[in-house]
Amino acid sequence: MNIQKSNGLHGEVNIPGDKSISHRSIMLGALAKGATKITNFLQGADCLATMDCFRRMGIEIENTPGEVLVRGKGLHGLTAPQDILNVGNSGTTIRLLCGLLAPQAFSSTLTGDASIQKRPMKRVMDPLTQMNANIQSQKGDNCAPLLIHGTFLKGIHYQSPVASAQVKSCVLFAGMYADGPTTVTEPVLSRNHSELMLTHFGAKLSCQETSVTIEPEPALMAQEVLVPGDISSAAYFIAAGLLVPHSQILIKNVGVNPTRSGMLKVCHAMGADIQYLNEQKDSGEPTADLLVSSSSLKGTVIEGEIIPTLIDELPMLAVMAAFAEGETIIRNAEELKVKESDRIAVMTENLSAMGADVTATSDGMIIRGGAALTGTRIHTYKDHRIAMSFAIAGLAADGVTVIEDADCVNISYPGFYEDLQRLSL
Ligand code: S3P
Repeated sequence: MNIQKSNGLHGEVNIPGDKSISHRSIMLGALAKGATKITNFLQGADCLATMDCFRRMGIEIENTPGEVLVRGKGLHGLTAPQDILNVGNSGTTIRLLCGLLAPQAFSSTLTGDASIQKRPMKRVMDPLTQMNANIQSQKGDNCAPLLIHGTFLKGIHYQSPVASAQVKSCVLFAGMYADGPTTVTEPVLSRNHSELMLTHFGAKLSCQETSVTIEPEPALMAQEVLVPGDISSAAYFIAAGLLVPHSQILIKNVGVNPTRSGMLKVCHAMGADIQYLNEQKDSGEPTADLLVSSSSLKGTVIEGEIIPTLIDELPMLAVMAAFAEGETIIRNAEELKVKESDRIAVMTENLSAMGADVTATSDGMIIRGGAALTGTRIHTYKDHRIAMSFAIAGLAADGVTVIEDADCVNISYPGFYEDLQRLSL
């Protein structure tokens, strides 16, 4: 994919559904009694992998344009898959499924693509093992493929060493089948979509600061779920509107849950002109339209408790920092190294190749902004967020930016290049 410098972006964009919420709507819909109707479900490869896994466990799912219908069979309604469950590139699918498969009355094997097979699974194997689960890594390297022999589980209080919604959700999902309440305490609060959706489906949860407790054996009932636009996908258009001179973009129906919207706070600190319009709530999740206008950005410090609320937006924020005046420091973001690619290394490599002044650190990056960037070949390592972040960089850089393996955007945003193209006309 070749990206040219843009003279300005204008118009409206409807962002596809939130990836985290779409995954959870299939999972909880499958475990609820009755037909769950999901609107604005994300038709990206990761969420389709979740759908496929549940179909393989006997759940009927109708995927029609505009609406997904999940015919849930209750908490104990999953059946043994005939084959290995393949999650593709999706970390959320594999980690959340571990929690749901550990207590089943059958055994299963989970695997995924080359990237998934390198990502750490010990973070979910540890708490599940404490709950009495039988979960093993086939190659003994704490990575997928994972073999799970279903067994009874004990309720525990897990003090998670990482602020990870995937770990938290895995343990909470397993806790639905445990012999008593299960509590997860995180070092810093991560995204709370599981808590909101479990409550929406009828589970009993209590949340206090960075702890959440779930009671076992909830009677989950089918619901309507309206999935808000994914703020992690909106992030590319927010950045495009800010970075490309003479732009104004209205980004419709964006999920602005405070555990996800740290990027908006950072944009504000950088001097961005973003207006919130039409604020609402859908299925317990706050949403807004965002009106973004070109702005001169300045550097900032991104660290501490805000990191989990913008972890997936850091590649885009790093690009914005390269175009901003002054220095930006990103700290406490070591989790970037274990995403779909090592995002500290890959961002540093590609930003440097475009002429930016960037230093990788052990837990982030130091970006001295303001150097003129020039288009070059971008090595995405098939990481969707790297591809989209550099497509936006290419709109603001001189010359032509070539995105390698550009179709990896289909993981979370099929139609991304088309939406970008429409705003450029
Ligand atoms: C996600 C949680 C985050 C995020 C990922 C989606 C989720 O991962 O990076 O894209 O849906 O729970 P971690 O739990 O590893 O922080």
